[in-house]
Amino acid sequence: MEIKDPAVKARMEQARKLTDSIFGKKVYIRGIIEFSNCCRKNCNYCGIRRGNTSVVRYQMSPDEIVAKAESNLKQGIKTIVLQSGEDMSYTKEVLVDIIKRIKALDSGCAITLSIGERSEEEYKAFKEAGADRFLMRFEIADRELFKKLHPDDDFDERLAAIKTLKKLGYETGSGFMFGIPGEAPDADDQNIALLKELGVAMVGCGPFIPAEGTPMEGSGIHADIERCLDIYSKIRLAMPNVNIAAATALDAVDKGARKLSLSAGANVVMPNTTPAKYKDNYSIYERKGKLDDNIADAKKLGAELEKLGYTPLWNQRGDSRVK
Ligand code: 5AD
Ligand code: SF4
Repeated sequence: MEIKDPAVKARMEQARKLTDSIFGKKVYIRGIIEFSNCCRKNCNYCGIRRGNTSVVRYQMSPDEIVAKAESNLKQGIKTIVLQSGEDMSYTKEVLVDIIKRIKALDSGCAITLSIGERSEEEYKAFKEAGADRFLMRFEIADRELFKKLHPDDDFDERLAAIKTLKKLGYETGSGFMFGIPGEAPDADDQNIALLKELGVAMVGCGPFIPAEGTPMEGSGIHADIERCLDIYSKIRLAMPNVNIAAATALDAVDKGARKLSLSAGANVVMPNTTPAKYKDNYSIYERKGKLDDNIADAKKLGAELEKLGYTPLWNQRGDSRVK
């Protein structure tokens, strides 16, 4: 792909060079299991917000979740990412049991939680049960816009939760969405500055993609591919040692953009391993289910990475270098 803006092109090259000097051409693999699309919250942009009555809701049973984790482990995916809406019917006890059962299958695997806001007591129990990592995006550094987008959330509480996770010893990830209608002209700088201030070990950022059945469904896509790649480059240059995931949402801007983000500093890919019968209903944004990889495609994705000159690291946890 031709990058038109020479400044972006230069930053991408610099970011990739820096990534190479730290990670080589290696790419970490994580398998995501989206185990429930039920959510108690009503974030304006999100396709599975509680107010979206057109969503067919599902909840995987603990047995189904553990079985899927087991099949991922067998295929060499050593990081199990458990992701869901804020579904409180998975109680502390239920989640602790799931975490323990997965760890019992393979004590050398890593478990990442991406389940939203919970109490410190719960975070602590999950950690003690064996969870290693936690992803919690702050979404946007602009607190006014945060408030407008999140009817149920408090910006300071979100930041406090991220800090609590760090304190409890989680390898903690955060990030933001960009291309949100109404964002400030310097939104990218604001967001990256907050990311840096939080001192996270992992980064997950992606473009806003309108979702059907939400108040923002008609908003359009506002981030073009060059901006996406530039943001990834800037993050790598600002935080050399972090693990940066190539967001699936990039492919909604431009098919193939997710892979291109590796040439702008990303070093992690997260194939979606949600069972096929549920996947299409985890519709955070439009057509998401159809853009994702299934487990068969995880291997295909690996082959494509090799074609691009990268080495997918099967059978490795790929812990962050940031401690
Ligand atoms: N477009 C892009 N990303 C979205 N997310 C939720 N809705 C959208 C959307 N419409 C992201 C948020 C959240 C995660 C669950 O998915 O950043 O943290
Ligand atoms: Fe729920 Fe997360 Fe979507 Fe908000 S962004 S509605 S918390 S799944």
